[in-house]
Amino acid sequence: MIFDIEPNSEILFGEGASLRTGKRVQELGCKKVLCITDVGIKKVGILDKIVENLENAGLKVVKFTGVLPDPPDYRIEECAEIAREEEVDGVIGLGGGSSMDTAKCVNILLSNPSPITQYFGPGEGLKKETPLILIPTTAGTGSEVSIVAVVTNTENHRKGGCIGPQWMADLAIVDPELTLGLPPGITAFTGMDAFSHAAEAITSGQANPMGELQAKEAISLITKSLPVAVEDGSNLEARKDLSLAATLAGIAGIKDSMVHFGHSLAHTIGSLYHDIPHGIACALVIPEVIRNDAKAVPEKVKVIGKAMGLKFDDDLSPEEIGDRVGDTIKALNKRVGIPTAREAGIKKSDLGKIAEIAYQDETAIFAPLKLSYSDALEIMERIYEG
Ligand SMILES: [Fe+2]
Repeated sequence: MIFDIEPNSEILFGEGASLRTGKRVQELGCKKVLCITDVGIKKVGILDKIVENLENAGLKVVKFTGVLPDPPDYRIEECAEIAREEEVDGVIGLGGGSSMDTAKCVNILLSNPSPITQYFGPGEGLKKETPLILIPTTAGTGSEVSIVAVVTNTENHRKGGCIGPQWMADLAIVDPELTLGLPPGITAFTGMDAFSHAAEAITSGQANPMGELQAKEAISLITKSLPVAVEDGSNLEARKDLSLAATLAGIAGIKDSMVHFGHSLAHTIGSLYHDIPHGIACALVIPEVIRNDAKAVPEKVKVIGKAMGLKFDDDLSPEEIGDRVGDTIKALNKRVGIPTAREAGIKKSDLGKIAEIAYQDETAIFAPLKLSYSDALEIMERIYEG
């Protein structure tokens, strides 16, 4: 097997790492930066702490707190306009996936013309002239180490992925202390987003041994520490495990091996139901996607199960392996309080529409087996039946 490991973003990891933000941003040559976040991060005081740290290092800071979930194109353009007017020489994304993806796009628009929607798909020939620094405040999306930014095109209401090395951070600062205040629900579903990145990386058609190592560790850490952090958000050891898991799963799932049909379904659910967060959509679909993957790659599905602590007899059929692992992931969902598909608001009448869009989604090409519309519908029906 020949596989290619592309360079990672530089990652500064550990509790208190965000206290080095100012110094590290200054070392990247920045003098005036745009710090992009949402109102929630401002409200809990994390924005002020980071801005103070940057200013103490002698940097000028422009703040933008208008990030919206599933970042819409128009909001990215508004933010990019501010970046150009203020002539910033660096961009910081602080928050969850939406803040980091908005920052990725704004940074690209500092070196390339608008609109952002023209950059959906692989980013050939794009310039990147200003450093991008990403600081996650959740443990799940992996955007800080990925080569992807997901944007909503508000003309056709479709989400699109901008993909390529230009969308990577120059520096990711992963500080588990920033996640200590996350409520149980967000902790649970962002953790299951990371779990999906890892599980899909292991079963991906583009899987490789390095990604498998990272993803196995991420699954073990999430299985052990997600229930702990959901129960007691102030448990720093559990938070450290989850931040590390999200980083490992992000590298494996959204940079090297790539996620597949779980994310095809989750993107589709997210675009049809705006009030279902990405992590909940991932959590809902991943047990059935992995159960189905066992038809093609049972040994890989066993790897996921073993990382969750399962033991397997040698004579199990692929179907039995899929059932054991799928049921174990479902039990983890239940334990951390993920709602069922019905509780999340998915309508039975939409199952066909979800299947129809998802099986043609661009991420489906990485699935370990080719899925038809009827395969996708069968998976959605199982998800709905819970
Ligand atoms: Fe994801």
